[in-house]
Amino acid sequence: MTRPALPVLAGLALALGLAGASPSHAADGARLFSLQCKTCHGPKSTPMGPTLTGVAGADIAGRDDYAYSAGLKAKTGTWTDAALDAYLAKPMAFAPGTRMMVAVPNAETRAALVTYLKTLK
Ligand code: HEC
Repeated sequence: MTRPALPVLAGLALALGLAGASPSHAADGARLFSLQCKTCHGPKSTPMGPTLTGVAGADIAGRDDYAYSAGLKAKTGTWTDAALDAYLAKPMAFAPGTRMMVAVPNAETRAALVTYLKTLK
């Protein structure tokens, strides 16, 4: 029961096209974004969430047109790959008090999402 689980999971990840930094990585991210993020993050900021266009490399909580939580505003710095990864992994640990409750536990999924976020310009 214990040993076969990992190869099976790895096979699943490959089947889903989520493993490694393949050329389709951004496409995977686009698909994941549509499923998991788009409801709240559109091309323009809404009360549901700030736009993520241009978010990679931008100031954390840096949009003029969105009223961020005090928790996210308390974070300084920019959205580096590492910061995006950490926020998506555990939003409340990265920025206690943030209003974004959605976490992405899978590292490959986060990597694909971050790759895709960098294409949103
Ligand atoms: C249910 C709504 C909702 C969903 C779904 C959602 N978010 Fe968010 N997100 C928010 C809100 C609200 C904020 C602002 C949080 C705050 O002010 O603390 C935010 C903030 C962010 C920020 C910081 C933006 C900035 O300008 O600093 C990033 C990056 C982000 N979300 C990425 C994602 C990704 C990637 C997904 C999909 C895996 C996702 N979010 C799914 C609501 C959502």
